[in-house]
Amino acid sequence: TTPLRLGIAGLGTVGVGVVKIVRQKADLLAARTGRPVEITAVSARSRNKDRGVNLSTYAWEDDPVALAKRDDVDVYVELMGGENGPAKASIEAALATGKHVVTANKALLAHHGQALAQTAEAAGRVIRFEAAVAGGIPVIKALSEGLAGNEITRVMGVMNGTCNYILTRMQDAGLPYEEVFEEANKLGYLEADPNLDVGGIDAGHKLSLLSSIAFGTQVNFAGVELEGIQRISTEDIRQAEDLGYKIKLLGVAQLTGRGLEQRMSPCLVPADSPLGQLKGGTNMVVIEGDAVEQIVLRGPGAGEGPTASAVIGDVCDIARGFRLPTFGIPASDLVEAKTAQSNSP
Ligand code: NAP
Ligand code: HSE
Repeated sequence: TTPLRLGIAGLGTVGVGVVKIVRQKADLLAARTGRPVEITAVSARSRNKDRGVNLSTYAWEDDPVALAKRDDVDVYVELMGGENGPAKASIEAALATGKHVVTANKALLAHHGQALAQTAEAAGRVIRFEAAVAGGIPVIKALSEGLAGNEITRVMGVMNGTCNYILTRMQDAGLPYEEVFEEANKLGYLEADPNLDVGGIDAGHKLSLLSSIAFGTQVNFAGVELEGIQRISTEDIRQAEDLGYKIKLLGVAQLTGRGLEQRMSPCLVPADSPLGQLKGGTNMVVIEGDAVEQIVLRGPGAGEGPTASAVIGDVCDIARGFRLPTFGIPASDLVEAKTAQSNSP
């Protein structure tokens, strides 16, 4: 049988996690997909860094674009991050040379996902991005496949592990913001620019991607009303607690009579509710549909193992021959939705 050959650009928290799974679970992946899954080439900024995994059997490329174009790569796995730069250029190069793409890069997709999806579909290739939203939770699969028979009415939840970690540690251990921020960093949760996390922007990127799949609408990150957690103090947290609430960075996306409402902001949630009980880097996504009523997905939203797990799920789908469009339906069929401000009459 023909192996599926991966080229991996980015060997940080997520990339190393992916290499470990491919190396350690070769038999399991072959059994589950019916063909060997192999890494042929890798790329990162520093060739000599010790990453705790054996990379000596793979070809090395300094330039991710060169990696993406290699003839011995079937699937280009982009795990560098960044809204533009080498992530975008290399994904475009991969699609132009007939590769499928797997990425965890929500910033890139929130800004350029629709154009990239159209390029992929024109080339008969797929872009998969399960790891980009809610880490280890297979929420994109749930929305686009398992819930395909539903009119989705609302998607909401906690989608940033860093913010949930910071808020729960400030709450439970009474620790200052700076100390818990450092803890989240050590756990590998943070974006290269942590302002994306604490500013609510990363979670907003994720919400805009889920909205598109849920409602069949064009990705509209600019339409997300955003507020981060930077101004939340331990005093705010204590006052909320006195009233029986916890503060969570909560996202809500819903179609209203006024258009598509997308909001990501710190909210008070009842302390004894499932959202109020959510600890550490855990994420929770609640999906409501006309037939299913409501489902709740909960799991680790960041970190090496959970995020690599989602990347490998996408790789296995491609190995099995699944060819789902990026946003569940062809990108050219996504409709433009009017933006509804949540506080407008
Ligand atoms: P990371 O630990 O900072 O790793 C980034 C990797 O990309 C590093 O290996 C870096 O090389 C490489 N890189 C950066 N710029 C490059 C360039 N110009 N050319 C070649 N290689 C370059 O990041 P991460 O946490 O693994 O995140 C990767 C992606 O996954 C991001 O899109 C992020 O948003 C997403 N994501 C992360 C998590 C998480 O929990 N960490 C969860 C979900 C999604 P060096 O190592 O040599 O510097
Ligand atoms: N920085 C992100 C988070 C990584 O903390 O949730 C997972 O997308």
